[in-house]
Amino acid sequence: MLKIGVLVSGGGTNLQALIDAAQSKTLEAEIAVVVSSSPNAYALERARRHGIEAVCVRRRDYASQDGYDAAMVQILKGRGVGLAVLAGFLPILGPLFLKAFNRRVINIHPSLIPAFCGKGFYGIKIHEAVLARGVKVTGATVHLVDEGTDTGPILLQKAVDVKEGDTPETLRQRVMEEGEWELLPEAVRMFAEGLIQ
Ligand code: GRF
Repeated sequence: MLKIGVLVSGGGTNLQALIDAAQSKTLEAEIAVVVSSSPNAYALERARRHGIEAVCVRRRDYASQDGYDAAMVQILKGRGVGLAVLAGFLPILGPLFLKAFNRRVINIHPSLIPAFCGKGFYGIKIHEAVLARGVKVTGATVHLVDEGTDTGPILLQKAVDVKEGDTPETLRQRVMEEGEWELLPEAVRMFAEGLIQ
């Protein structure tokens, strides 16, 4: 069975979607470990509540990118992880990590890449920019992670309507509910079923 490592930094709602999918057997994959970049990320609590090993690895505890990458690789490879899933994960993963998990790192981004992505576009800022630009449709994207920011090959996308009166918060919630929480488990399922090489 495919073992995944989920990398988190915050609330962990995307992690929760993966936990729910794995537990309801609609996803033939095992979450072997959750690695948080922050010690007080609620995502850690979600993992522990479901008996999933949860560890914190802080970027600032490592003098170099390679040192950080090596620690992250060791944690995942040591648990037989075959796919790294970034779910609200903020730190940069460097070339050493990406080489160890070549084409086996995916990320969920809350917009329709190539719109509203790249440096500075993360979290609520994305939805603020969407509303400021006045687009009528936004959405979510799952892509392979490469050395750039939100630049890897696109795997899945889903459009989500912007509604009259939306605030950044109401829009973020809809993009998560209708986009992210559906696409991320679906992308892991595709890897688990060998549909993505
Ligand atoms: C979400 O908006 C997700 O799209 C982005 O990080 C935010 C927090 O995700 N990548 P989560 O609730 O921690 O999964």
